[in-house]
Amino acid sequence: MSNAIDPLLTPFALGKLKLRNRFVMAPMTRGHSPDGIPGENVAAYYRRRAEADVGLVITEGIGIDHPAAIGSGSMGESNIPLLHGDAALEGWRHVVDEVHQAGGLIMPQLWHMGVIRMAGTGYHPEVPSARPSGVWGPTEKGMMPPEYLAEMAKPTAPLTDSEIGDIIAGYARSASNAYKLGFDGIAIHGAHGYLIDSFLWWATNQRTDKWGGDIARRATFAAEVVRAVRAATSPDFPIIFRFSQWKLQDYSSFNAANPAELEAMLGPISDAGVDLFDASTRIFSTPAFDGSDMGLAGWAKKITGKPSMMVGGVGLSRDLQSSFAQETHVVNNLDLVEERFARGEFDLVAIGRGLLMDPQWVRKAKTGEAFNPFSLAAYATLN
Ligand SMILES: Cc1cc2nc3c(=O)[nH]c(=O)nc-3n(C[C@H](O)[C@H](O)[C@H](O)COP(=O)(O)O)c2cc1C
Repeated sequence: MSNAIDPLLTPFALGKLKLRNRFVMAPMTRGHSPDGIPGENVAAYYRRRAEADVGLVITEGIGIDHPAAIGSGSMGESNIPLLHGDAALEGWRHVVDEVHQAGGLIMPQLWHMGVIRMAGTGYHPEVPSARPSGVWGPTEKGMMPPEYLAEMAKPTAPLTDSEIGDIIAGYARSASNAYKLGFDGIAIHGAHGYLIDSFLWWATNQRTDKWGGDIARRATFAAEVVRAVRAATSPDFPIIFRFSQWKLQDYSSFNAANPAELEAMLGPISDAGVDLFDASTRIFSTPAFDGSDMGLAGWAKKITGKPSMMVGGVGLSRDLQSSFAQETHVVNNLDLVEERFARGEFDLVAIGRGLLMDPQWVRKAKTGEAFNPFSLAAYATLN
């Protein structure tokens, strides 16, 4: 691999937090926490990456304290961890301690599945799924099993104002729990068609009250979540907000058609107290809009003035979705990463599958050793 990555090995200050380098472990669902409780294997999994020089670990998505947060989603998820209840919190305390002992930093990814959750599943099968307008979105483009899509196509009751308030309070309680446990910040999952993104996307948010309307109004829920997380933690506790254009319902759809719409969307979320934007793309170097080759993380940084993180395809020949169907292998594209980093497009680089396949990925990027090969079988163990 490239040995020209020295700039990516420089430290980065995210508020009071000092990352030892620019490489971040991207959030990746594992489903190894029965009853929502992370055990020793979860601690060992994150410790392995922290020991091998990852600058910051963002955990797998963790269900917020709301009964409809977690269920079986488009991948039939189960055993998703929670961030409330004594046993789960004790489990996370141990995870945090292990990562800190290994010299690392760790933030939980707060997750509410929203419209993607299959009704009748999860820790509270009795509650309905949370949908801003009672719809999952257009089902023609979803690449999920037909039985899942048929179920999702059934309209349900839109969230009421008071139900929305309850969910925001759930985010706040979970953030407060994380703060007290000693996590190093909060990462909010606002992407991929899940609850927060379903407020941002026109296809799933057709509301005419304060939670819907133009793109700035559709960002109200996200902004309120950020504000609640800020209020539940402290003024200097780092908050990372992940957003995307793509959705599980439609990989080619988007929230913002141009930079002006992106500004209208991210502005209120940024003002609510975000410290860094995590722009989730399938391939980091894909131009976000016509007329410029800048990626989405570059636009987020330019528009908000906040630092940003990119993700998608670092070290691999194919993006996440196509890697399931087409042969994928390890490639050397750190030169391209470095080139865009030098242009100031982003401050941090998130690595997903690379770090899944190879816990030593960051250390090997430093030394130039070969990475472990890509293998779909690794998803079965997520070790
Ligand atoms: C097994 C797996 C689970 C994932 N789970 C999550 C998740 O819980 N939350 C999230 O925001 N993204 C999730 N992602 C997306 C990754 O964070 C990342 O954005 C994506 O894999 C692209 O990065 P990569 O090309 O380096 O793998 C997941 C990806 C994988 C491979």
